[in-house]
Amino acid sequence: IPVDDFDLVIFGATGDLAHRKILPGLYRRFVAGQIPKTAQIIGAARTEQDDDAFRAEAKAAIVEFGKVDEGSDTLADFLRHLGYVSIDAKGDGGWDELKSRMRAGAIHAFYFSVAPSLFGDLAEHLARFGIADDHTRIVVEKPFGRDLASAHALNAVLREHFKEEQIYRIDHYLGKETVQNLMAVRFANILFEPLWKSEYVDHVQITVAETVGVAGRGSYYDKSGAIRDMVQNHMMQLLCLIAMEPPYHFDPDAVRDEKLKVIRALEPLEPGDIVRGQYQATEDAPGYTDDAENPASRTESYVALKVRISNWRWQGTPFYLRTGKKLRARTSEIAITFKEPPHSIFDDEGGPKANELVIRLQPNEGMNLKVMIKEPGPGGMRLTQVPLDMSFADALGDDGTDMPDAYERLIMDVIRGNQTLFMRGDEVEAAWAWTDPIIEAWEGSKIRPEPYDAGSSGPEEALRLMHRDNRRWREIR
Ligand code: BG6
Repeated sequence: IPVDDFDLVIFGATGDLAHRKILPGLYRRFVAGQIPKTAQIIGAARTEQDDDAFRAEAKAAIVEFGKVDEGSDTLADFLRHLGYVSIDAKGDGGWDELKSRMRAGAIHAFYFSVAPSLFGDLAEHLARFGIADDHTRIVVEKPFGRDLASAHALNAVLREHFKEEQIYRIDHYLGKETVQNLMAVRFANILFEPLWKSEYVDHVQITVAETVGVAGRGSYYDKSGAIRDMVQNHMMQLLCLIAMEPPYHFDPDAVRDEKLKVIRALEPLEPGDIVRGQYQATEDAPGYTDDAENPASRTESYVALKVRISNWRWQGTPFYLRTGKKLRARTSEIAITFKEPPHSIFDDEGGPKANELVIRLQPNEGMNLKVMIKEPGPGGMRLTQVPLDMSFADALGDDGTDMPDAYERLIMDVIRGNQTLFMRGDEVEAAWAWTDPIIEAWEGSKIRPEPYDAGSSGPEEALRLMHRDNRRWREIR
């Protein structure tokens, strides 16, 4: 179903994100028949070039990152929607031209795919040249600040010209199908929700493991580290979706109010509840300091945390979070380990084991529920644990190729005017308010991150974070 007619302007259209995600994503929505016939996608950046040159650039990006055949007629049709205006974010050149391209009656959305230091300039120019009005939507990307003060300042700059309802802050994890599925699993089934509390849940593990390192983006990453790059945003969002109370409706503020309450209920972290790691070179792989080109770097490429939520539902149930680069496998999952049954009626030596629900976010999206059954055979009442395993692709008869990418979904939500999967300003600030003291304590210390081998499961020290609580991490594989 096509969305309403729109003019989408991409500031930073010659940049990496536009090439890798935004343009290929829009193309896929075009193939799906969602882009209206008259919709315009206008690239804007400093480079001086005309519409045709930008179309050629976009074509190359879509061919490379969208894996599309160069000679495709559909691609040629899509490129007709594209235009380009050369704009100087800090100067006045190009803005009148941009204004003349915007059509009355169409939805106007502006994607700020630029450094956050330019947000203010873009917002101010859009207002001053009369390009933006009360219906304009703007889209901004992470990093949304690098601490509470800078995030607050960015919010203030944007709010000078736009209302909160006009600002779409992207966290691409919220656009992932399985992340949205978390809400469906929790709130469209009666099975899980009654057990979803500390009375029945022993602990929760959230893992986002990556095999990639930081080569090529070391200059950004080295100033950021895993807490700023992954925990403050993506991991926090996952935690919120698992821990939040049922919203009264799947609507933007209802959902975001509940997420905010979780963030506000996070206990400050104790120093012993965090382990930082940095990958080191092995025979076949370079180490972090090589990739980041900073031999003295103390930046963490891995972090494991034990998080407590101070509210009725979660009192006494820890959430263990870990994320890292150059780990042995790419896997993201959420595992909910339930408590053991209070009493066993069977003589079986081991007795029943705790049920576990694992939600796999990527790859091979699906769910796995471990349940106890009787071991088959005449040997008496022996218990064994088996998985009820479901891959979403199998269950839905889909090989996954039609699954929209996070960006596609989110860009279309902007055009539809649905903010449910975008972060509200207060949410982002609350997340920084929680991570700031963790970062400050580290930056004020001289401690070095724990080394771990590239291609391993992370630092040994992270194992101890669990072992001291008589628990263990799930294997990364
Ligand atoms: C980005 C981070 O936001 O998310 C990257 O900046 C990280 O460091 C990426 O690799 C992970 O996203 P995905 O979709 O590959 O899990």
